[in-house]
Amino acid sequence: MEKTRETFGSRFAVIMAMAGSAIGLGNIWRFPYMVGQYGGAAFIIVYIACSFLLALPIFLSETIIGRRSRTNTFGAMEKLAPGTSWKWLGLLTVISPVIILSYYSVVGGWSVEYLFKSLSFEFTDTDAGSIQSLFGTFISSTWEPLITHTLFMLMVAGIILAGVKSGIERFTKITMPVLFVLIVVMMIYAISLPGSGAGVSYLLKPDFSKLTMSAVAAAMGQAFFSLSLGVGTILTYASYVKKDENIFASSIGTAVSDILFALLAGFAIMPAVFASGVEPGAGPGLVFQTLPFIFNKMGTAMPVVSSLVSIIFFVTILVAALTSAISMMEVGVSYLVDNKGMSRLWATVTVTVFAWAVGILCSLSFGPLSEVKILGNSIFDFLDKMCSNFLMAFGGLLFTLFVGWKMDEASVRDEFTNGGTKKRNSRWFKTVYFLIKYVAPVAIVLIFVTNLIIS
Ligand code: PHE
Repeated sequence: MEKTRETFGSRFAVIMAMAGSAIGLGNIWRFPYMVGQYGGAAFIIVYIACSFLLALPIFLSETIIGRRSRTNTFGAMEKLAPGTSWKWLGLLTVISPVIILSYYSVVGGWSVEYLFKSLSFEFTDTDAGSIQSLFGTFISSTWEPLITHTLFMLMVAGIILAGVKSGIERFTKITMPVLFVLIVVMMIYAISLPGSGAGVSYLLKPDFSKLTMSAVAAAMGQAFFSLSLGVGTILTYASYVKKDENIFASSIGTAVSDILFALLAGFAIMPAVFASGVEPGAGPGLVFQTLPFIFNKMGTAMPVVSSLVSIIFFVTILVAALTSAISMMEVGVSYLVDNKGMSRLWATVTVTVFAWAVGILCSLSFGPLSEVKILGNSIFDFLDKMCSNFLMAFGGLLFTLFVGWKMDEASVRDEFTNGGTKKRNSRWFKTVYFLIKYVAPVAIVLIFVTNLIIS
């Protein structure tokens, strides 16, 4: 298995694939509405702190386990802690990304629909009043969102089928740099809008009075979600990383690009939120409700330019969503191939059908199934909360405990410093190990308990 396992070709490819997983709907769709719901700049400060102090240690733990074992989450636990029950916990992290994929694909489908709408000039041809209700009508209908969910799922499966090098690596290496350019263009455009100042200062002036305990918990959840943590995704990608790659450098590279992208997306979206008069705390529909309004206003004067900008924007969301969704699917596929001996084709079909079927329920929960509640939440909200607030935190805890307490320190050091050859990593090892062993687990437990109390 060691010899035939595919690897990413270069440092650049590793960062692009990992950043591709990290940067996604979490940055463009989830981050702005979280910022809106939890009080702007103060939330952002806590989110950045959580990213470095808690999320980065988990990221490194997953990378260390993945590259050392060179296999999927289940196999990794079995290999590094043979004969123990750790592998069953590893199996849990094979299941959670597939659940995330199911509802993620529904939102991915919304961006497919909005791309179609931009291509057919729908935002410029509709009157401003009905533009915001367009979103509600669309997501609550039965068939259209199901069709776009299916299309999105098929695109993901197509890339995964092509394999690690010619699918994941090739796709992310081309699309990720383009994505950065697109979001910068969008940001410059948004800041130049009349009335954008209120949005910009919302993101820059912290109001600490809004920083409740639940805001802190949400900031941590956002940091985990955004860096794809606790669900074996980073672990699985790390299993394709070459032995001579500097994992500390590529992890920092990934974390920094993820945070940067979230901030750029915030500056592209918040000005539009204020300019369109929508409440910043409007929730999951925020991006889909506010931007078309801007495109519409602009469209009366310049329909072609406006459609072009909206096409650019929804292509950005779609591509970002695809590069993340493939990383979720790869976790399950890699498990079925490594441990169940399935072919890549059958493994892909199995994961796709399962996630697609659960996704149907999530999509219908905005319409025909809106009355179905699980612990007071719709199916979609329940799965999102269960994953980002609990399963991800639990998985993150598991990985840090495994590296900090189960693996022996010498192997961790060996993996982190590439056998002592990376001098800078050796200097950082003590700090990183302390964060992994003590700081991250304690903080995760504290926030986990807080989530339990407040939800
Ligand atoms: N990090 C991705 C995003 O920000 C979401 C994700 C979660 C990807 C879990 C993989 C695993 O959109």
